[in-house]
Amino acid sequence: MFISFEGVDGSGKSTQARLLSAALKAEGREVLEIREPGGTPAAEQVRELLADPAVPLDPVAELMLFLAARADLVATVLRPALEAGTWVVSDRYSDSTEAYQGHARGLGSQRVRDLNDAATGGLAPDLTVLLDVEPGQALARAVDGGRFETEGEGFQRSVGEAYLEIARRDSDRVVVIDGSGSEEEVHRQVVDAVAARARS
Ligand code: TYD
Repeated sequence: MFISFEGVDGSGKSTQARLLSAALKAEGREVLEIREPGGTPAAEQVRELLADPAVPLDPVAELMLFLAARADLVATVLRPALEAGTWVVSDRYSDSTEAYQGHARGLGSQRVRDLNDAATGGLAPDLTVLLDVEPGQALARAVDGGRFETEGEGFQRSVGEAYLEIARRDSDRVVVIDGSGSEEEVHRQVVDAVAARARS
């Protein structure tokens, strides 16, 4: 089972990914936690480059770097783990690229999806949890001042709209959870969504 968490910067998805992994491990499951970009030596180096707002990057180059990191992660870590029966919980995956680079950066959703399929061999999550938080509220919680936090509220709003569009389109895969509640409330809803998917 492959579960991804998505949301705008500061939506609380990293906390929720961690809480879900801990809950699954407590049930005795083998769980691999990953965060994107990252998870392999090469992808971690790409992450550092992408995270530095002082390094100017052409938008297409930025897209290719996210996809290069993902290709390495899928081929060397993610796919082998799933094939071994391990559950994978990922903090971000392909929907981030469609929302940030495809929509907010304006590179085009379909183009990004096609390139992403080439990078991943079409590997999609079984379940995606989208934490829906008002972008202004989320930005106030996002403290690291990275490449995208510094783009401001309009950019985050565009990312948020793209996510909701993806959720409407891929409603079989994506569950939208209101991320404005307490950590425990949101976690309970996440656990329910995972249990429902595991039963189906
Ligand atoms: P992340 O470390 O998840 O940041 P945060 O915890 O603040 O949400 O992701 C780093 C940034 O990279 C984040 O602003 C979203 C962005 N991103 C993309 O633009 N495209 C992508 O494909 C991915 C995976 C992340």
